[in-house]
Amino acid sequence: MKDITFRAAVAGDWAQISQLLRDNDLPLDGAEMHLNGFILAYQGQTLAGCAALERYDRAALLRSVVTRKAFRGLGLGQELVRHVLDMARSEGIRDVVLLTTTADKFFPRFGFSAVRRETAPDAVKESAEFQGACPDSAITMQLKLE
Ligand SMILES: CC(C)(COP(=O)(O)OP(=O)(O)OC[C@H]1O[C@@H](n2cnc3c(N)ncnc32)[C@H](O)[C@@H]1OP(=O)(O)O)[C@@H](O)C(=O)NCCC(=O)NCCS
Repeated sequence: MKDITFRAAVAGDWAQISQLLRDNDLPLDGAEMHLNGFILAYQGQTLAGCAALERYDRAALLRSVVTRKAFRGLGLGQELVRHVLDMARSEGIRDVVLLTTTADKFFPRFGFSAVRRETAPDAVKESAEFQGACPDSAITMQLKLE
C-alpha cells in the first residue's frame, strides 16, 4: 500500500464517493446525510476506498466499506475498517452493526458475528439500510466494543 493517505470526508468529496459506491453496487441511501462519518483513502487524486460510520447515539452502523478493484488484496479494506472502528471506540460507541450481502466472511476478523436482524439496536434500525436499502436477505453482523 504505497502512498495511501487517509482523511475524513468533506462535502466536496460526495461526487467521487457516490461514484465508487455505484460502481460497486452499494446503496447510496442515507450516505450523504452521514458524510461526516466517512473515512477516505486516497492515492494522489484517486479515491482508492472508503468506509463509514452512521452514528446513532451509543450505537453505529458500519457501511460503505469498499476499495477500488485495482487496490484490492493489499490490506486497504482492513485498514479502512480499523480506522472507522478506532473512531467509534474513541467516541464511546458500544455497538457496531452492519448489513452485508457480499462480505460476511470478511468481517469476523474484526470481531463481528452474525446476529438476527431484530436484535440490532433500535436506533440503528432507523437507518436507510435497515429501512429497505439493503435486502431482507442481507446478513446482520454486530460487534460489541469495550
Ligand atoms: C470487501 C472489500 C472492501 C475488501 O477490500 P480489500 O482491500 O480487498 O481487503 P484487504 O486487502 O484488506 O483484505 C483482503 C482479505 O479479505 C478477504 N476478502 C476480500 N473481500 C472479501 C469478501 N467479499 N468476502 C470475504 N472475504 C473477503 C480476502 O480474501 C483477503 O483475505 P486474507 O487476508 O485471508 O487473505 C472489497 O473486496 C470490496 O470493496 N468489495 C466490494 C464492496 C463490498 O462488498 N463491500 C462490503 C459491503 S458490506
